[in-house]
Amino acid sequence: MRLKDKVVVLTGAASGIGRSTAILFAKEGAIQIISDINEVGLKETYEMIKDGQENTIFMKVDVTKPAEVKDMIDTTIKKYGKIDILICNAGVVRVGPIEDFPDKDYDLLIDVNLKGTYYTCKYAVPYFKNQKFGSIITLASVAAHIGQVNHANYCSTKAGILGFTRALALDLAPYGVRVNSVSPGATDTPMLQGDVAKQARDRGVDYNMVKKEFEEEGVMGRWARPEEIATGILYLATNDSSYMTGADLRLDGGWTTR
Ligand SMILES: NC(=O)c1ccc[n+]([C@@H]2O[C@H](COP(=O)([O-])OP(=O)(O)OC[C@H]3O[C@@H](n4cnc5c(N)ncnc54)[C@H](O)[C@@H]3O)[C@@H](O)[C@H]2O)c1
Repeated sequence: MRLKDKVVVLTGAASGIGRSTAILFAKEGAIQIISDINEVGLKETYEMIKDGQENTIFMKVDVTKPAEVKDMIDTTIKKYGKIDILICNAGVVRVGPIEDFPDKDYDLLIDVNLKGTYYTCKYAVPYFKNQKFGSIITLASVAAHIGQVNHANYCSTKAGILGFTRALALDLAPYGVRVNSVSPGATDTPMLQGDVAKQARDRGVDYNMVKKEFEEEGVMGRWARPEEIATGILYLATNDSSYMTGADLRLDGGWTTR
């Protein structure tokens, strides 16, 4: 077991990549605090954890609410005395041409994707600096590296994650704490399914047609399974990536090689 006795805090664990990460990390022996704004989905994830459920705690946390995020971090420290691995995974996507883009959707993208990641790190960083070890992993995207039609606002938040991750890596390197991001390509989760469904509706075309377009973006011609992103997150969490900081791990099926 590669994460035995490691304390992990994970946001956005009710679905998709977060859920797969929680299941994989539990199998690897982690002690986990899994969180999400969606309590029903979070409980489902908890119930899906067969190996390691006794080492898992779930907490309803909205990453846009600093007090809730702080409580999650402080509770972890009070209970376990350390955080080995922090995964800022919670995220949302909203798509559409910017002239019609609702401002409330723009605010949501900023609040969850950027401010949520910032708050999650903000309250944990003092503990990381004090303990002088640990790995922080953020979720960027293929959308941080390339433009996607009708995704300008989502792309800007994910590109922001890259900048945040690189700069935080500098701040924490003197303390022996590594900070890296993962950039998934099209990954088969409720987020991507919803994104494809909306584009299909907006364009008046079939869901499968838009799905196929996304599949063909990666040179491998298929979507990733969320488990394939979770294994990348595991790599950044363990000492296998001990010389890696401020970096981005692209798990995009070759999308950005074109
Ligand atoms: N699926 C993809 O193709 C893809 C590609 C690139 C990057 N990503 C990124 O990966 C991460 C996970 O995405 P996913 O595909 O698993 O999506 P998902 O929608 O399946 O899961 C995201 C989770 O974040 C949670 N969340 C949303 N707002 C929250 C908030 N305010 N507080 C706490 N939790 C909140 C949701 O409830 C959900 O459980 C996101 O950051 C996303 O941007 C996904």
